[in-house]
Amino acid sequence: MSWAMDWNSLVEAAWKVRQNAYAPYSNFQVGAAVVATDGRIFVGCNVENLSYGLTTCAERVAIGAAVAAGAREFHGLAVVADTALPISPCGACRQVLAEFQVPRVMLANWSERLEFSLEELLPRATAGILDRPG
Ligand code: THU
Repeated sequence: MSWAMDWNSLVEAAWKVRQNAYAPYSNFQVGAAVVATDGRIFVGCNVENLSYGLTTCAERVAIGAAVAAGAREFHGLAVVADTALPISPCGACRQVLAEFQVPRVMLANWSERLEFSLEELLPRATAGILDRPG
Protein backbone atom coordinates (compact mmCIF):
# COMPACT_ATOMS: atom_id res chain seq x y z
CA MET A 1 0.00 0.00 0.00
CA SER A 2 1.34 3.43 -0.85
CA TRP A 3 2.05 5.91 1.89
CA ALA A 4 -0.82 8.34 2.58
CA MET A 5 -0.45 11.87 3.89
CA ASP A 6 -1.90 12.49 7.34
CA TRP A 7 -2.88 16.05 6.54
CA ASN A 8 -4.92 16.41 9.74
CA SER A 9 -1.85 16.00 11.96
CA LEU A 10 0.24 18.28 9.81
CA VAL A 11 -2.38 21.04 9.66
CA GLU A 12 -2.94 20.75 13.41
CA ALA A 13 0.81 21.13 14.05
CA ALA A 14 0.84 24.20 11.81
CA TRP A 15 -2.03 25.84 13.71
CA LYS A 16 -0.28 25.11 17.00
CA VAL A 17 3.06 26.64 16.04
CA ARG A 18 1.28 29.64 14.53
CA GLN A 19 0.63 30.72 18.12
CA ASN A 20 4.36 31.43 18.38
CA ALA A 21 4.48 33.67 15.32
CA TYR A 22 6.54 36.81 15.85
CA ALA A 23 4.62 39.29 13.70
CA PRO A 24 4.57 42.69 15.44
CA TYR A 25 4.73 44.61 12.13
CA SER A 26 2.14 42.88 9.99
CA ASN A 27 0.14 41.33 12.83
CA PHE A 28 -0.31 38.44 10.37
CA GLN A 29 0.47 35.12 12.03
CA VAL A 30 1.45 32.11 9.91
CA GLY A 31 2.22 28.51 10.87
CA ALA A 32 3.79 25.74 8.82
CA ALA A 33 4.56 22.06 9.38
CA VAL A 34 6.54 19.70 7.18
CA VAL A 35 6.65 15.91 7.45
CA ALA A 36 9.88 14.12 6.61
CA THR A 37 9.94 10.72 4.93
CA ASP A 38 11.09 9.22 8.25
CA GLY A 39 7.83 10.44 9.81
CA ARG A 40 9.21 13.33 11.84
CA ILE A 41 7.25 16.58 11.77
CA PHE A 42 9.03 19.94 11.90
CA VAL A 43 7.28 23.24 12.46
CA GLY A 44 7.88 26.92 11.80
CA CYS A 45 6.20 30.28 12.28
CA ASN A 46 6.94 33.61 10.66
CA VAL A 47 9.65 35.67 12.34
CA GLU A 48 9.48 39.34 11.39
CA ASN A 49 12.12 42.03 11.64
CA LEU A 50 12.11 45.81 11.89
CA SER A 51 13.94 45.90 8.56
CA TYR A 52 10.97 44.05 7.02
CA GLY A 53 13.15 42.43 4.35
CA LEU A 54 14.80 40.17 6.90
CA THR A 55 11.47 38.63 7.81
CA THR A 56 11.44 34.86 7.51
CA CYS A 57 8.26 33.07 6.47
CA ALA A 58 6.83 30.15 8.42
CA GLU A 59 7.54 27.71 5.58
CA ARG A 60 11.26 28.47 5.45
CA VAL A 61 11.55 28.32 9.23
CA ALA A 62 9.98 24.83 9.15
CA ILE A 63 12.28 23.61 6.36
CA GLY A 64 15.29 25.10 8.15
CA ALA A 65 14.39 23.30 11.38
CA ALA A 66 14.07 20.04 9.46
CA VAL A 67 17.39 20.41 7.68
CA ALA A 68 19.12 21.35 10.93
CA ALA A 69 17.79 18.12 12.45
CA GLY A 70 19.13 16.07 9.54
CA ALA A 71 15.91 15.67 7.51
CA ARG A 72 16.14 16.41 3.78
CA GLU A 73 13.41 14.32 2.23
CA PHE A 74 9.79 15.22 2.72
CA HIS A 75 6.30 13.99 1.97
CA GLY A 76 4.53 17.32 2.29
CA LEU A 77 4.11 20.68 3.97
CA ALA A 78 1.06 22.47 5.38
CA VAL A 79 0.80 26.23 5.86
CA VAL A 80 -2.03 27.96 7.71
CA ALA A 81 -3.26 31.45 8.48
CA ASP A 82 -6.49 33.13 9.56
CA THR A 83 -7.38 34.46 6.12
CA ALA A 84 -10.50 34.64 3.97
CA LEU A 85 -8.79 32.53 1.29
CA PRO A 86 -6.22 29.82 2.10
CA ILE A 87 -2.80 31.47 2.29
CA SER A 88 -0.46 31.51 -0.69
CA PRO A 89 3.28 30.89 -0.15
CA CYS A 90 5.60 33.63 -1.42
CA GLY A 91 7.88 33.02 -4.37
CA ALA A 92 10.97 32.66 -2.17
CA CYS A 93 9.31 29.90 -0.15
CA ARG A 94 8.19 28.12 -3.32
CA GLN A 95 11.81 28.12 -4.46
CA VAL A 96 12.92 26.63 -1.15
CA LEU A 97 10.21 23.95 -1.38
CA ALA A 98 11.56 23.20 -4.87
CA GLU A 99 15.12 22.90 -3.52
CA PHE A 100 14.00 19.99 -1.35
CA GLN A 101 11.43 18.67 -3.81
CA VAL A 102 8.57 18.81 -1.26
CA PRO A 103 5.99 17.04 -3.42
CA ARG A 104 2.66 18.09 -1.86
CA VAL A 105 1.62 21.39 -0.24
CA MET A 106 -1.59 22.05 1.69
CA LEU A 107 -2.75 25.66 2.01
CA ALA A 108 -5.37 26.20 4.69
CA ASN A 109 -7.46 28.65 6.64
CA TRP A 110 -9.94 27.77 9.39
CA SER A 111 -12.56 26.53 6.95
CA GLU A 112 -10.86 25.45 3.73
CA ARG A 113 -7.94 23.32 2.57
CA LEU A 114 -6.39 23.42 -0.90
CA GLU A 115 -3.79 20.82 -1.91
CA PHE A 116 -1.23 21.51 -4.63
CA SER A 117 1.73 19.75 -6.17
CA LEU A 118 5.09 21.49 -6.20
CA GLU A 119 4.89 21.64 -9.98
CA GLU A 120 1.61 23.54 -9.76
CA LEU A 121 3.06 26.06 -7.31
CA LEU A 122 6.34 26.59 -9.18
CA PRO A 123 6.50 25.23 -12.73
CA ARG A 124 9.94 24.70 -14.28
CA ALA A 125 11.63 25.40 -10.94
CA THR A 126 14.96 23.83 -11.84
CA ALA A 127 14.94 23.36 -15.61
CA GLY A 128 18.03 24.86 -17.19
CA ILE A 129 19.79 25.92 -13.99
CA LEU A 130 23.32 24.40 -13.87
CA ASP A 131 22.21 22.34 -16.89
CA ARG A 132 19.61 20.43 -14.92
CA PRO A 133 16.85 18.67 -16.76
CA GLY A 134 13.28 19.81 -16.05
N1 THU B 1 4.17 34.96 5.49
C1 THU B 1 4.50 33.66 5.79
O1 THU B 1 5.08 33.38 6.84
N2 THU B 1 4.15 32.70 4.90
C2 THU B 1 3.42 32.91 3.77
O2 THU B 1 3.11 31.96 3.06
C3 THU B 1 3.03 34.27 3.40
C4 THU B 1 3.52 35.37 4.27
C5 THU B 1 4.48 36.00 6.49
C6 THU B 1 5.58 36.94 6.17
C7 THU B 1 5.19 38.15 7.00
O3 THU B 1 5.64 37.96 8.32
C8 THU B 1 3.68 38.14 7.00
O4 THU B 1 3.31 36.79 6.67
C9 THU B 1 3.03 39.09 6.02
O5 THU B 1 3.49 38.90 4.74
